[in-house]
Amino acid sequence: MSVHGPSLCRLLLFFMSLRSTLTPASSHPPHHPCRLTQRTALCNNSNLTSVPAGLPGSTEELQLNFNLIKTLQGNCLQYPSLTTLSLACNNLETLKRNTFQHSKLLKSLNFANNNLYVSYEETSNALKMLPELKSLDLSENKMDEEMAAVLLQNLTSLEYLNLSGNLLQRIDETTFRDLHLLKELDLQRNLLFEIDNAFDNTPKLQRLNLAINHLPCLTDFHMTQLVVLNASHNFIEWFISRQDVNDTFQIETLDLSDNKLLFFPFLPNVSRLRNLYLSYNSVSFYEHLEDNVTYPNLTTTVEFYNTMRNTTNITARLWDDNLHGDISSVEMLDLRGNQLQYFPQGFIRKMPFLSRLRLCGNCLESLNLTLEQFSGSLFELDVSNNRLKEIVTNDVTLGTLSNLTYLNLSLNDLDCGSSGLFFALSSLGSVDLSYNNIGTCLPDEAEASSGSNTASVDWKTTVSLRRLYLKGCNLGKIPPSAFSGMSLTHLDLSDNPELSGQPSIQSLSSTLQHLGLGNTHIGDFDFSDFLNLKSLNISYNSLSHIPASVVKLDVKLLDLRDNKLSTIPSAQAKTLASKLHTVFLTGNPFNCCQTEWFRTFERTKTIHVVGQSDMECTDLLRIHSILHSRLFLCQEETGESMFWYIVLFVPICISLVGILLIVFLTMKPKVIHKSIKKKCFKPTSY
Ligand SMILES: *[C@@H]1O[C@H](CO)[C@@H](O)[C@H](O)[C@H]1NC(C)=O
Ligand SMILES: *[C@@H]1O[C@H](CO)[C@@H](O)[C@H](O)[C@H]1NC(C)=O
Ligand SMILES: *[C@@H]1O[C@H](CO)[C@@H](O)[C@H](O)[C@H]1NC(C)=O
Ligand SMILES: *[C@@H]1O[C@H](CO)[C@@H](O)[C@H](O)[C@H]1NC(C)=O
Ligand SMILES: *[C@@H]1O[C@H](CO)[C@@H](O)[C@H](O)[C@H]1NC(C)=O
Ligand SMILES: *[C@@H]1O[C@H](CO)[C@@H](O)[C@H](O)[C@H]1NC(C)=O
Ligand SMILES: *[C@@H]1O[C@H](CO)[C@@H](O)[C@H](O)[C@H]1NC(C)=O
Ligand SMILES: *[C@@H]1O[C@H](CO)[C@@H](O)[C@H](O)[C@H]1NC(C)=O
Ligand SMILES: *[C@@H]1O[C@H](CO)[C@@H](O)[C@H](O)[C@H]1NC(C)=O
Ligand SMILES: *[C@@H]1O[C@H](CO)[C@@H](O)[C@H](O)[C@H]1NC(C)=O
Ligand SMILES: *[C@@H]1O[C@H](CO)[C@@H](O)[C@H](O)[C@H]1NC(C)=O
Ligand SMILES: *[C@@H]1O[C@H](CO)[C@@H](O)[C@H](O)[C@H]1NC(C)=O
Repeated sequence: MSVHGPSLCRLLLFFMSLRSTLTPASSHPPHHPCRLTQRTALCNNSNLTSVPAGLPGSTEELQLNFNLIKTLQGNCLQYPSLTTLSLACNNLETLKRNTFQHSKLLKSLNFANNNLYVSYEETSNALKMLPELKSLDLSENKMDEEMAAVLLQNLTSLEYLNLSGNLLQRIDETTFRDLHLLKELDLQRNLLFEIDNAFDNTPKLQRLNLAINHLPCLTDFHMTQLVVLNASHNFIEWFISRQDVNDTFQIETLDLSDNKLLFFPFLPNVSRLRNLYLSYNSVSFYEHLEDNVTYPNLTTTVEFYNTMRNTTNITARLWDDNLHGDISSVEMLDLRGNQLQYFPQGFIRKMPFLSRLRLCGNCLESLNLTLEQFSGSLFELDVSNNRLKEIVTNDVTLGTLSNLTYLNLSLNDLDCGSSGLFFALSSLGSVDLSYNNIGTCLPDEAEASSGSNTASVDWKTTVSLRRLYLKGCNLGKIPPSAFSGMSLTHLDLSDNPELSGQPSIQSLSSTLQHLGLGNTHIGDFDFSDFLNLKSLNISYNSLSHIPASVVKLDVKLLDLRDNKLSTIPSAQAKTLASKLHTVFLTGNPFNCCQTEWFRTFERTKTIHVVGQSDMECTDLLRIHSILHSRLFLCQEETGESMFWYIVLFVPICISLVGILLIVFLTMKPKVIHKSIKKKCFKPTSY
């Protein structure tokens, strides 16, 4: 009904392509499929093949995303107040030279996900007509660097440019030559392998995204004005800043994660760097190699020559760990998944504002906190998944770590002494000691009351502690008073198979919200008092029924994986279905003939049964996916199942009888001949 305008425009396009000189008739009614709000026209997703005519002349923003527009004609854009035009996800190939003749105030253009590579030269001429253009999105347009350079010619007012998801391979000083005011540039997901002085003419550039390209290195980094640089997911082996620059580098965030760095980056001499992401590289420190007595023939420097032009060669002294540049403003240092064995002397001390340190997945064997001198701002320390055997510290050091709130020491080889240290910290809220061998560290009752066992782990001293994770710690019996007086909200004791019986956690019943008791052989634990519990993990416990006390709780998440449940009584199923949001049930030997509970869960829209397609049950014959209820064969079930029973069994019996008959016939033809003769026929005269 309302496609009059567009269809007329389509007609026009047709005539245009015949090189007709028709101009649009001004008399057609202002029908269009757009929703108008204030000065914005929303015409997304409307199968339009051209810009609708007949919108209010005062329109300032026009959204035409997800349509089928291929060409922008000069005559289809007659809105003089237009400042924002969005045409993402069309089939746009060409902008005619005079497209913007009547909309010269345009500031923002979004052409994401089109085919502007087709006639970029013509499009370039159209863009040149916009003296106020500030923001241009050309992402996903299959353009290479030459096309981009042509398209960007003379766009001197541009401040934001998005070229992500194109085919750029090599950029140099000509690519962005005229973009003197550019502040933000997104070059993610291209094929860039070389950058050659490409940013010499963009002195105002503050945010640069080079993530997901093929860059092998970033040497001679000297963009002092840059605030955010994202070069993650490349193949970068070297990051080296120019050392002879006197100005302060404005860089605050540097992301070099998922690269191939072997060395800590050579950062600028003076900078404001706050967030440094180096996760998933191969960074290590090599101070020990500087010893030229042990390693007399080791190269000590690496030089980078620029063969193309006459700039200074870059020399980096490899083994001197003092050359990491200015890290004095760093607040977040992410070094997950590297090869660190130690920190160079004074390295941590150089970061007085360090608040988050992530070291998960390195090769640290010991940590001397007294030596490293972490700052009082330290808030999060993650040293999980290393080879820590010991952590050395003293009371003075612990006193300075008054802000440490999150501590993850899981997956190490810590003993009782080291893992117990931290419970003296005043702000500690969350501690993960999982998968360390601290099973023997709990004081037994006598020692606990006298306070004599110094090597034991006593978490009760930390009043602020809310989350305690003790998975896989070989915990045996927990003394009854182990948690008394604490206000834990999260406790995970999973993967402690020796814990069997009734772990002494009753004192936490009023505060606990998340409880993990997976693989602990808990037996018939009584959960009645745990009224605030929101999630409960009792997987891998050989339970043949769901404890009645669990059904009474108001839990939202319940993990019952890998138990021995064969069914869930329908009363329980109804109650659970009305409360639970998420339930895990895979790995139980369910009986297909008692799956009414599953239909109950299926009918309840508010419950998510995780991994339904992996849930199995057994019927008379074999194992089925629990979803295929029509295939189940059940003895005592109604006519339908009996019907299948018969349908499957009768042919088998018949064919068995048939086979026997054939065998009988072929093996003993004579006997049968005679017997048939005898019994069935009257003797005949041969
Ligand atoms: C584009 O800029 C160049 C100089 O950089 C100038 O010679 C040329 O006339 C400009 N073209 C247009 C269309 O403004
Ligand atoms: C650039 O465009 C891509 C794809 O259209 C989008 O994901 C990304 O967020 C944009 N970048 C910025 C800085 O807006
Ligand atoms: C850098 O880019 C990657 C890929 O787009 C993204 O995942 C990451 O969050 C970005 N880093 C920062 C610090 O924003
Ligand atoms: C840096 O400053 C020093 C002295 O302050 C001066 O000699 C040197 O030329 C400056 N270097 C640059 C690149 O400006
Ligand atoms: C930067 O630091 C290096 C090494 O400490 C030093 O040799 C160089 O002179 C410094 N450059 C400036 C400009 O301060
Ligand atoms: C070893 O290094 C020291 C100081 O760095 C230097 O004085 C000495 O000459 C070096 N020796 C050799 C054999 O290179
Ligand atoms: C070091 O180099 C010298 C001469 O090049 C050679 O004689 C010596 O064996 C080398 N030493 C080691 C440890 O490789
Ligand atoms: C860089 O090093 C090369 C090779 O040693 C040398 O030929 C060239 O002159 C050096 N360039 C400068 C500017 O020092
Ligand atoms: C830890 O560092 C302190 C301070 O440098 C030092 O006195 C102590 O011996 C170190 N401890 C260990 C076990 O290395
Ligand atoms: C601890 O954190 C608080 C708030 O996050 C902050 O105000 C305080 O300065 C920090 N203490 C230290 C010693 O950095
Ligand atoms: C501690 O680190 C391990 C391994 O990196 C991780 O799986 C676990 O979720 C972390 N614990 C907490 C409480 O964040
Ligand atoms: C429950 O505990 C088991 C055993 O530790 C673990 O594998 C599983 O991921 C946990 N379930 C949830 C939902 O976290």
